[in-house]
Amino acid sequence: MKRAKMKIAVTGGCGYIGSHTIVDLLNAGYDVISIDSLVNSSETVIDGIQKITGKRIVNYKIDLSVENSWHELLEKEKDVQGIIHFAAFKAVGESVQHPLVYYKNNVCGLIEVLKWMDKASIPYLIYSSSCTVYGQTSELPVTETAVFGEATSPYGRTKQIGEWLLQDLFSGTTRKAISLRYFNPAGAHDSGWIGEAPTNPALNLVPVITETAIGKRSRFTVYGNDYNTPDGSCIRDYIHIMDLANAHTKALDYLIAHPNAPSYDAFNLGIGKGYSVLEMIKMFELISGLKLNYQLGPRRPGDAESIYADNSKAIKILNWTPKRNLEMILQSAWNWERHRSI
Ligand code: NAD
Ligand code: WQD
Repeated sequence: MKRAKMKIAVTGGCGYIGSHTIVDLLNAGYDVISIDSLVNSSETVIDGIQKITGKRIVNYKIDLSVENSWHELLEKEKDVQGIIHFAAFKAVGESVQHPLVYYKNNVCGLIEVLKWMDKASIPYLIYSSSCTVYGQTSELPVTETAVFGEATSPYGRTKQIGEWLLQDLFSGTTRKAISLRYFNPAGAHDSGWIGEAPTNPALNLVPVITETAIGKRSRFTVYGNDYNTPDGSCIRDYIHIMDLANAHTKALDYLIAHPNAPSYDAFNLGIGKGYSVLEMIKMFELISGLKLNYQLGPRRPGDAESIYADNSKAIKILNWTPKRNLEMILQSAWNWERHRSI
């Protein structure tokens, strides 16, 4: 099957990771449609995608957590060959307050996508998983064979359930699914036309830093400086959004080129190196020339002390290599914050 003829449905295509992945897929020659209810995004991102790629994609405004909501796609999009399923809620703290909302959207949403996949005989699925499935692991760097730890939130459990569901459903079938376990995605497309633009307030470290630098927030808190790490703050594996996006294209390429690939597999996506919160702040101050207004505060409940990926499986099997470093992550995030139109 030729890549240029392949149509891929991207759920959550107007969101942060979905939009950057669409750019990578279009540049690689795939045809793309998006399915996004816009619950945490805006359709204007499609203009940004068009500015970058010269291609206009269509978005179906469908809430995938609603039973059989995908039925119109059976009629209108008969030639979809693969699905990349991003659509989900992702705020850890919110999931603790509203577990049912998270189970409904993330688990029922996945089930509906699987029903559509079955009905339309779509052979490939790429699923957005997360390093959160490992819980508070002591294996560093963590490999894909690590046993799932106790999830620290309902959100984390929805990702574990998603992976178990896929494992149960796909084992021994001719159809194939891959879970991609993201570590900490950050940064934006270099053009500045797309970036992280959630409708809900940003809670992740990098947007918190850039929003403070530009004055949208007066200051922020470093959650804990008494961890058992070199400077006392938590360590994470930050991966550039365009490297992460490219791994989805590579995962699809791999499934298409390898009919004998396992029917279910999982891959870590990180750069394989950890940075502390204070190192992130220092690097941002260096590249922006600004002083950030922050305070050292108490630990955030549920935070792991340190986690970073062993990414060798994705490098070897998916033929993927992360190419961008921390400086490029922060530079692109800062560029986006200063020039964003949404
Ligand atoms: P995002 O909120 O920017 O994008 C998700 C998109 O899905 C949004 O545009 C939203 O409107 C849409 N959506 C949500 N529920 C929907 C539904 N029921 N029907 C249709 N559309 C719906 O989030 P993101 O950062 O791009 O995350 C994408 C995926 O990656 C999610 O599954 C998330 O759990 C996972 N993930 C994200 C991170 C991260 O740090 N950003 C890390 C690990 C995993
Ligand atoms: C990074 C570090 C904070 C904000 C989350 C999810 C995880 C995955 C990726 C989806 C931590 C510190 C943060 C602030 C801070 N998402 N921090 N002050 O928690 O590693 O991972 O996103 O699957 O499941 O939990 O990312 O960006 O929130 O935090 O000190 O204002 O920055 O304590 O050490 P996290 P994050």
